[in-house]
Amino acid sequence: MNIRAHKGLTFDDVLLVPKRSPIASRRDVDTSAAVTNTIRLATPILSANMDTVTEWEMAVAMARAGGMGVLHRFMSVEQQVRQVNKVKRAQGLMVDNPYTVAENASIAEADRLMEQHDVGGLIVVNGDKKLVGLITRRDILLAPDDVLTVAQAMTRADHIVSVGPSVTSAEARALLYQHRLEKLPVVDRDGKVVGLITSRDVVRVEERSQASVDGKGRLRVGAAIGVGSGEMARAEALLEAGADLLVLDIAHGHAEHCIDMVKSLRRAFADAQIVAGNVATADGARELAEAGADAIKVGIGPGSICTTRIVTGFGVPQLTAIMDSASGLAAAGIDIPIIADGGIKTSGDLVKALAAGAHIVMIGSLFAGCEEAPGSPVIRDGQKVKVVRGMASLGAAMGRRAAERDGQGIDESAEDQEDWDKVVPEGVEAVVPYRGHVAEIVYQLVGGLRSGLSYGGAHSIEELQRNAEFIEITAAGVRESGSHDVRRL
Ligand code: XMP
Repeated sequence: MNIRAHKGLTFDDVLLVPKRSPIASRRDVDTSAAVTNTIRLATPILSANMDTVTEWEMAVAMARAGGMGVLHRFMSVEQQVRQVNKVKRAQGLMVDNPYTVAENASIAEADRLMEQHDVGGLIVVNGDKKLVGLITRRDILLAPDDVLTVAQAMTRADHIVSVGPSVTSAEARALLYQHRLEKLPVVDRDGKVVGLITSRDVVRVEERSQASVDGKGRLRVGAAIGVGSGEMARAEALLEAGADLLVLDIAHGHAEHCIDMVKSLRRAFADAQIVAGNVATADGARELAEAGADAIKVGIGPGSICTTRIVTGFGVPQLTAIMDSASGLAAAGIDIPIIADGGIKTSGDLVKALAAGAHIVMIGSLFAGCEEAPGSPVIRDGQKVKVVRGMASLGAAMGRRAAERDGQGIDESAEDQEDWDKVVPEGVEAVVPYRGHVAEIVYQLVGGLRSGLSYGGAHSIEELQRNAEFIEITAAGVRESGSHDVRRL
């Protein structure tokens, strides 16, 4: 038995000491951070992989706000893949079903279609849907009287620049500029038309510069997986569908079966971005990193709906858990991001988590009341509320069993049951106030972060971490920190 030399601290135990600041405006700071060393987010926030927090609607809203949603895993592989697809289709560089016209149609018909769809040009296809040309309003306007069909008036395919489906926004921009084009048809290997990229799409993708997008301009999304027997297949299907981040989500991540799973994932999917957790110690963080994780998720029991610490007696107060995990990685010379998961109640907590060494935070309950979270609001005592539940709560476990009975094919293998889904609950069900759109909450959190960076004399999160000086406070300090001795309106 031993007792740690240092105290375990959490967000409310400390404040950050203000620093001399070169920041004149909150606009002069950069709130971006790496979620892995290859994915950077403008907004350092993930929505939690909980079934009352993140399904595709939340993931779309989070990515548009510059963060990322992590789809929960308590659904079948097919359902989770469908959710990834919905996020990926919500916005992209390429129009999926572009308007086409047959090569043997009349130019009058092409003109009518352009009018109907309010577009300046159409892709011309043959009977096999293969690209044969492009026709624009100008081609029709300038056509001599003896030009009657689309085939006669169009620019033929051999004079057109087309691209494959994997083209990136930068490549498309370069081609559009180089050839002074308006439109780039996208064709598959057989020459069949699968999409269209216009110069407007490229600019729109770039304009939404804060949105989290992949190389194809599609919104980014993460997806949770477990350690059960079917989970390698789940991982493969999710990656195939375009998931940007796999989040191996185990209640006690510093466990041999979790370390082994990270190794297997790393071996099978060399380029996949893998987040592993949860841990709360230097050794836990280091071992998952050494197994091949690209980021470490930290938090044992800080969550608002968590009762792990009460039920098991285990846990580390979250601020200390973040600091210990960060110093564990630093001591081993490992430079990968830390994601602080759970317990964020305010933007002040977010700033403290980042200053303590996290790069990104994951938020559950604070987002569960949002419009985009699964489930509808209900009225409780005259107030509009939504339900949030711990993934190890009794209700969540019962819900999973019911889904299993309904044939939704959730993997309930022995290892999986040893995860969140315990017979002895380690989480609760609760209601939270309805909070409207998540973008508004993210805006408030990021606003607080911007102010926090200026108090910390920091242009960036990395600089905040370097400058950070925490001061431990007393109960009187905690009382003084909130509004006090006034009656709130
Ligand atoms: P917040 O405080 O943002 O925390 O709601 C969200 C995180 O809590 C974790 N989580 C649980 N932890 N029992 C636990 O001990 C549970 O039933 C449970 N459900 C979720 C999870 O890490 C989530 O991201």
